[in-house]
Amino acid sequence: MKRYAHITSCGMAVPERVFTNQDLEKMVDTTDEWIISRTGIHERHIASPQETTASLATAAALNALDPTPLDPDDVQLIIVASATPEHIFPATACIVQDNIGAVNAGAFDLSAACTGFIFAVNMAAQAIRSGSIDNAIVIGSETLSKIVNWEDRNTCVLFGDGAGAFVLQASEIPGGVLSCVMRSDGSGGDLLSVPAGGSQMPTTMETVAHNLHTIQMNGREVFRFATREMAAATREAVAIAQLQLDDINLIVPHQANRRIIETAARSLRVPMDRIIMNIDRYGNTSTASIPIAVCEAMDEGRIQSEDNLVLVGFGAGLTWGAMVIRCVETEVYVAPTRRARRRFLFVLARLRSFVRRVLRKLEGLIWSTSSKK
Ligand code: COA
Repeated sequence: MKRYAHITSCGMAVPERVFTNQDLEKMVDTTDEWIISRTGIHERHIASPQETTASLATAAALNALDPTPLDPDDVQLIIVASATPEHIFPATACIVQDNIGAVNAGAFDLSAACTGFIFAVNMAAQAIRSGSIDNAIVIGSETLSKIVNWEDRNTCVLFGDGAGAFVLQASEIPGGVLSCVMRSDGSGGDLLSVPAGGSQMPTTMETVAHNLHTIQMNGREVFRFATREMAAATREAVAIAQLQLDDINLIVPHQANRRIIETAARSLRVPMDRIIMNIDRYGNTSTASIPIAVCEAMDEGRIQSEDNLVLVGFGAGLTWGAMVIRCVETEVYVAPTRRARRRFLFVLARLRSFVRRVLRKLEGLIWSTSSKK
């Protein structure tokens, strides 16, 4: 029997704090009018010091799991796509795995900047279709506010924080992820980067003093690349799915700039009412922008069963990609008692993690004392 990888649920989480263009006017030489006319952004959510990429990812994953029949120990794979991971290592996905008590899941991070969510969904879908796993949680999560230079008006007005997650499950019903195009061009790596903090330029007093741990961007070149590749990748993904552009009900583009999205839509000859756009309220949340836009469109009833969607993104690397998804009603009734029990399991997961840490320390102590004897 052929297997298909369906998106059965999605969830999102954004920080409470909203940062408006007027707030930015007080920090850098910019205006509300300039930001809106050049980018379409009115406001963005900004993480508090306590909120991190992993905490937002965990909240989005729990929201996505809630309506599904999956308990934490049923989850088999967790992929976090992020440009702002919690650490170089361990992977943010492992922190999420521990937070939600997914004791049987493999977990890893995927780094492809803003295109990361599309690449990660494709990896999970392929693993499901191959039969190696039955389900996965894919998360895009970012705290870009922590790597933005708040004195650089070219970049600080663009980005926001947030997380979005998809639950993917195997099914014999045709649909789900129908096609995916994944592309990259490393020769454009310098157009959008965080130069320092990796092995090529480790952290020193100089790298900190010269702001090399923050986002550096050639905005005009990124703009040109994005408008060129978004339309091409969309066309290719639609063709691989053996569909026509007219068969696509909605396009969900990476939310980087309203003008980039409008230019791509014009080039595809797709009217704007078939394009999802929420950049005005979130800014560019990198890997989180597409799943957040899908969650909102779902909540607003804009996505119906049997709809064909295109998700299309681009970002640092350079990377870009597009995928076609057929949404098929797979809703399963989950009793409120089961949901309540599951929420209790999530609380238990935190306790289990604490106990494991204490036991590991004790074991280490006992081992080092006995090995000295
Ligand atoms: N407020 C006021 N003026 C600003 C400004 C701001 N926040 N940021 C830049 N400017 C100025 C520039 O300094 C420049 O001034 P100059 O002509 O005196 O040098 C002027 O505005 C125009 O700059 P330009 O680069 O032509 O603007 P633009 O119309 O291309 O818009 C971006 C700039 C960054 C909004 C646009 O290039 C863009 O969105 N690029 C893609 C970025 C992106 O999506 N990155 C993430 C990819 S995942």
